[in-house]
Amino acid sequence: MTKQTFLDLGWQPIANGFIPKEGQEDEFSFNLQVAFDDETCLVTQQEYVAPEKMFHKDYAYRGSMSLTMVDHFQKTAKLLSESLPPSPRVLEIGSNDGVFLNNWDTDNTYAVEPCFNFAEETNALGYRTYSRFWNNDLSKDILAEHGSMDLVFAANCMCHIPDLQETFQAVANVLEDEGLFVFEDPSLARMINLNSYDQIYDEHAHIFSVIALKNELERVGLSLIRVDNLSVHGGSNRIWAAKTTSEWAKYVHISVEENITYEKLLGLDNIAVFDKFSSRVAQSKQDLLDVLYRCKENDQKVISYGATSKSTTVFNYCGIDDNLISYITDTTPEKQGKLAPGSHIPVVAPKDNSIADDVNYVFLGAWNFVDEISKKEKAFIDRGGKFITHVPLVRFV
Ligand code: TMP
Repeated sequence: MTKQTFLDLGWQPIANGFIPKEGQEDEFSFNLQVAFDDETCLVTQQEYVAPEKMFHKDYAYRGSMSLTMVDHFQKTAKLLSESLPPSPRVLEIGSNDGVFLNNWDTDNTYAVEPCFNFAEETNALGYRTYSRFWNNDLSKDILAEHGSMDLVFAANCMCHIPDLQETFQAVANVLEDEGLFVFEDPSLARMINLNSYDQIYDEHAHIFSVIALKNELERVGLSLIRVDNLSVHGGSNRIWAAKTTSEWAKYVHISVEENITYEKLLGLDNIAVFDKFSSRVAQSKQDLLDVLYRCKENDQKVISYGATSKSTTVFNYCGIDDNLISYITDTTPEKQGKLAPGSHIPVVAPKDNSIADDVNYVFLGAWNFVDEISKKEKAFIDRGGKFITHVPLVRFV
């Protein structure tokens, strides 16, 4: 593996490491550098943060906080069941607060979630949840206890794990010979097209192209059989894979070739496109700071909507603090009353479930939920309030 760095996002904290109001003496930070591996075409971090620092009993991100995601996982479960035998054995890796699990019977559904707070919740709901990190040892334990799985599913989890070879091998260990391995993660093509550099933070060890995934999966005897392009999380891909020896692998869906051809047209198999991306990221920082300083000079109050991991990257890369953004609203109880990582901007519950009257501009930390937010915040829009976004270009919406 030869990794070449193309982007330096500076010193970054743990993206979900919200800190108590009174502060914390030893806030961890690391230099977030992004690299291209010219052997597998994988876009990956130069140095990985230890998983134990990110995923633990105080993990703050709840998948079920938006109606969009609840609805998305309901539909995903329905779609997947159409390709599975009756009463399938299902394993979810990275089950968070159960937003996907909730769509399956407790009897044959198993889960893996290293964050103990969430594992405790889903165990209480009746889903046998292992509060451990996904690896070969755990896959063997699950195989011994429950047998092989008809479906192994993961959403926004595979890209969290540094060692992809062990991760995919462990999936192959528990997968039924004719089983499906389906996972969703942010799409590299979408990130490049949208200039959404904020998809990169500690937890996103890799941002996947279909090209890279095909290479990584084939190394452990798995074939990529279908790709669905999704709008969630700012543009994701749902990857379908199966054992290379299975019937599935004989009929590869056209979407695989289509996505690979498109990614090659974009140039995702060559570092040149990432060097250009890096220049656009630097410009985005400059443009966002210009807008926020102009608001400040004109006594306009700016807040941020959604204390997202993505906004952790933006605020720390651009050097934005509560001088430019007064506070962040977020509906997640675990984040409220705390300070945002690195920037130390206060995170508050939305007042009366809407944007306060004295706010002029709202930066969309959760730009990926712009439709859901616009519906909810009609009153703000009607009184002339404007959103600020940096995706794909810095602008008012
Ligand atoms: P995500 O983009 O990583 O899924 O994070 C979205 C965050 O935004 C999450 O903390 C929940 C929060 N949020 C709100 O506060 N209000 C909303 O209306 C929505 C949709 C999300």
